[in-house]
Amino acid sequence: MCGIVAYIGDKDAYPILLNGLKRLEYRGYDSAGVALLEQGVLSIHKCQGKVSDLESHVNGRSMKGSLGIGHTRWATHGPPNDVNAHPHQSTSGDLALIHNGIIENYAAIKEELTHRGHTFHSDTDTEVLVHLIDDVQRTEGVDLVEAVRLALDSVVGAYAIVVIDRKAPDSLVAARKSSPLVIGIGENGSEHFIASDATPIVEHTRNVVYLEDGEIAVIDRTHGLRIRNIKNQDKTPFIQELEMHLEALEKGGYDHFMLKEIHEQPRSIRDSMRGRLNLAKGEVVLGGILDFEQKLINAKRILIVGCGTSWHAGLVGEYLIEDFARIPVEVEYASEFRYRNPIVNEEDIIIAISQSGETADTMAAIELAKGRGATIFGICNVVGSSIARITHAGSYTHAGPEIGVASTKAFTAQVTVLTLLALMIGQKKGALGGSSFNRLLNELEAIPDKVQRVLAKEPQIKYIADIYKNAANALYLGRGSSFPVALEGALKLKEISYIHAEGYPAAEMKHGPIALIDEEMPVIVIATKGASYEKVVSNIQEVKARKGKIIAIVTEGDTVVKGLADHVIEIPDTADQLVPLLSVVPLQLLSYHIAVMRGCNVDQPRNLAKSVTVE
Ligand code: G6P
Repeated sequence: MCGIVAYIGDKDAYPILLNGLKRLEYRGYDSAGVALLEQGVLSIHKCQGKVSDLESHVNGRSMKGSLGIGHTRWATHGPPNDVNAHPHQSTSGDLALIHNGIIENYAAIKEELTHRGHTFHSDTDTEVLVHLIDDVQRTEGVDLVEAVRLALDSVVGAYAIVVIDRKAPDSLVAARKSSPLVIGIGENGSEHFIASDATPIVEHTRNVVYLEDGEIAVIDRTHGLRIRNIKNQDKTPFIQELEMHLEALEKGGYDHFMLKEIHEQPRSIRDSMRGRLNLAKGEVVLGGILDFEQKLINAKRILIVGCGTSWHAGLVGEYLIEDFARIPVEVEYASEFRYRNPIVNEEDIIIAISQSGETADTMAAIELAKGRGATIFGICNVVGSSIARITHAGSYTHAGPEIGVASTKAFTAQVTVLTLLALMIGQKKGALGGSSFNRLLNELEAIPDKVQRVLAKEPQIKYIADIYKNAANALYLGRGSSFPVALEGALKLKEISYIHAEGYPAAEMKHGPIALIDEEMPVIVIATKGASYEKVVSNIQEVKARKGKIIAIVTEGDTVVKGLADHVIEIPDTADQLVPLLSVVPLQLLSYHIAVMRGCNVDQPRNLAKSVTVE
């Protein structure tokens, strides 16, 4: 939520900042801005809209400066307009600041500063922070970094900030609490990059330092990078090597990142299993959780927390873990979990699922459970992300960077890791018989090739999308672990095409949603062969009796549903429990094509952001 980028070195900062902002735009695209410092002159350019709007806005102006900061905003305080765009400036005009997060006590600080003569122009909490730093700097007579430290000490909330000072033209100061910041160290240490994640940095350097909570970094042209904490103690920067590859951040010939990411799933699912599923030995090894294996096997209860698509993956995980490992599982929205005084104790295992590894509510849920002594496992995609670092153990999904705001390959990778986890516990606990375990391992190994076969149905799915692209509503139905897939299918459609869609357990349809069904209403039903097949067929009959239009996801060779449905999309046969890994793919493609046909911006849907770092 909001993207931050900064540069100090010997090159022109503007092209580096602009490119960085384009990489970070998935974090928010309400406004964009940059500030450049050159020969004692601080110039700020910002406007409502996307990074491309900023480019047009500055077109023709001289954008000189080898030190600068840039920001792409997801609006929290105040509407998306030019004035609320970052960077924000102090009254003196000396300081410029960019911020990701929320300053919760900004109103009280604003009131105090107003009494002290400060005038504010925007509705943002960020402007309050830059005025506060400026005020501290002047009243205490301290340098920028000390002013930042003292100011942050009185602030409540979450932040990642970068500040520059016209009076100190050879340095910049960055700090974080709860919102991520990565610092890239260029060759010979002659240039440094700061960003909300590593995507703007990877094309310049692979050496990075992840700033920890409560740390303040000062980078200047003479001393390079120095880090201290909020208590003013020096810290030694821990330099790590980035594993990210540049190609993963490009569209690679696809029209949209979302389409590329949907098509990457055979590879990303394989990568999630690589080195973990061993058919020859008949075992699953999750290296990241080896130390806690016994705890998992003996768990009396597992709680899964996540948000959005990650929560849907958690729901699939519930079916898998209960079925394979016979351990009771509860799945909760992280945001609800943390606000209801949940019963959690030392014996509990919490699985936190998050693509970005930065979702504020998921992080807060983890902290709460940690505080009550529970053991926390993370299932994250972004390597080195905050959640990956605050959990006791975990498994990366290895799906590679996901740029499209609507999550696709991250979901299937999360479900793959949950499947491996459930299989591993089930086998070690003896809850899953040897032959069932081996059959499931074989089926799982075959999933990437089967996903490839589902992707080959794209022309047919595009044809169906064309028929239903103008629908006002859509209903998604499934039973068992196909229910969370129905939820995920409905979420995909509404978030990128803005068509109202609901996911329901198929049997629940008759308790309400059936009232909505008429001849205009597409009903997407996951009706694959398995335990509840006949029951789902009955639900399809109920929809048909009310003239609803059925789009059914069926197992290859099905004839019964074919005779009932308006359209069927066949997916390969697999074990009942693994169907979500296949059935979600046509739903992703259907949403994608409907959204494209409706002229929507699929990679950057309105009002959304990929990484939700506010609560
Ligand atoms: C946002 C994204 C979703 C994502 C959710 C949770 O809403 O748009 O795609 O599922 O956040 O994010 P996380 O990174 O924790 O999985």
